[in-house]
Amino acid sequence: MNCDKIKKQSIAKIVDTENVSKASKCSYILTANVIKIEKKGIKTMLRIKYEELLKEFERVLISRGFNEKNALDAATVFAQNSLDGIYSHGINRFPRVVEYLDKGEINPDVVATCEMSMGAIERWEGHRGFGPLNAKQAMDRAIELAKQYGIGMVALGNSNHWMRGGSYGWQAADAGCIGICWSNTMPNMPAWGGKDRKIGNNPLILSVPKSNGDHVVVDCAVSQFSYGKIEEARLKGQKLPVPGGYDEDGNLTTDPAAIEKTWRVLPMGYWKGSGISILLDLISTVLTNANSVQKIGTFGDEIGLSQIMIAIDPGKFNDAETTDRIVDELVADIRSPERLSKKAWATSVFSFKLPNPFPAFCHKVILTGRFFCRRFLRRVDRVKIYFIIHKTFPLLNFY
Ligand SMILES: NC(=O)c1ccc[n+]([C@@H]2O[C@H](COP(=O)([O-])OP(=O)(O)OC[C@H]3O[C@@H](n4cnc5c(N)ncnc54)[C@H](O)[C@@H]3O)[C@@H](O)[C@H]2O)c1
Repeated sequence: MNCDKIKKQSIAKIVDTENVSKASKCSYILTANVIKIEKKGIKTMLRIKYEELLKEFERVLISRGFNEKNALDAATVFAQNSLDGIYSHGINRFPRVVEYLDKGEINPDVVATCEMSMGAIERWEGHRGFGPLNAKQAMDRAIELAKQYGIGMVALGNSNHWMRGGSYGWQAADAGCIGICWSNTMPNMPAWGGKDRKIGNNPLILSVPKSNGDHVVVDCAVSQFSYGKIEEARLKGQKLPVPGGYDEDGNLTTDPAAIEKTWRVLPMGYWKGSGISILLDLISTVLTNANSVQKIGTFGDEIGLSQIMIAIDPGKFNDAETTDRIVDELVADIRSPERLSKKAWATSVFSFKLPNPFPAFCHKVILTGRFFCRRFLRRVDRVKIYFIIHKTFPLLNFY
């Protein structure tokens, strides 16, 4: 987003202007447009200009050892994420970063360095520097390699949390490149079928550029919900729209507070997200020869992460008009004018497909049962019942 756009939006939401480093002692309550800060029982609602917020972040970062340029770049990451509404990796995350700086777990003085280089692929060492600056530098280099070879990859080891992974997808797309990047994390999710947290919710980002800046970007943790989103739902007093993890009795739940108690989140797509998480971690560990999710779990805090930045220059095959046309055609087709109503969407989550072939009588019995099940499910905790039914009557799994 450029400065003019920022000025137009002008008011960012947020922050404890007195002392951001004390912000961890406050609890942030998100509303649609503002964040309320509760402190010692006093409720305040603040709307802070983007520029003021940026300066405050910058001041705190300089006080923790950042030089002026790095402080501005780092502060921009937090302020921009907050302005874009990604509080989980903006203002809400800032106190933890300050805490890590104070503990010496993030080194504000260092920059990532290239350790090995083979044509289009390079291995870099992050020296436990500030994650977003290391990640930006790594993606800059991947883009440079892509412009030369058509594809570029930087495997960045021993870095730190990069905040909003989408930033690097946008960075690649802004340079006219397809971006593919991911990071591993601390173990924060059980593998499918397991109980203990063994795998990471390793965020994965994919982006395709458009010459007018309307890039197509997907940026997601491979858990159904990131911890930031779960925290955000709890602070808003909301339930999750679909189950996001397990409660203390081992049941799937939409209650964010119950999930925060167990720290057992659900992989996106159940077993599929679990497999994707494992492979993303394996690939990043092999390519960096640095820390796996398992190793990160031994550090106590989420530090020393392995990240992969890949940029591909479609301009080596297509002119920009061709890429734009392909993207436009595909997006226009997907944006069908007919949309599912909320109710239909909820029901579709619990719809079963019919097998083929199947005796007509059984077919009718099951259809009738399914009808009543659905009516019942509309009234009760759908997810619990859904799992009970499918565990008890495996036959229904064919439907
Ligand atoms: N350790 C880490 O580095 C780490 C870990 C987890 C998440 N994160 C970051 O946290 C941020 C949030 O992650 P998340 O998994 O909660 O993202 P999310 O669930 O909000 O969004 C994931 C993707 O789905 C899309 N999306 C969301 N809701 C949608 C809807 N209703 N319809 C259609 N598309 C929808 C979004 O545009 C996005 O591309 C990301 O920036 C991610 O990189 C970082």
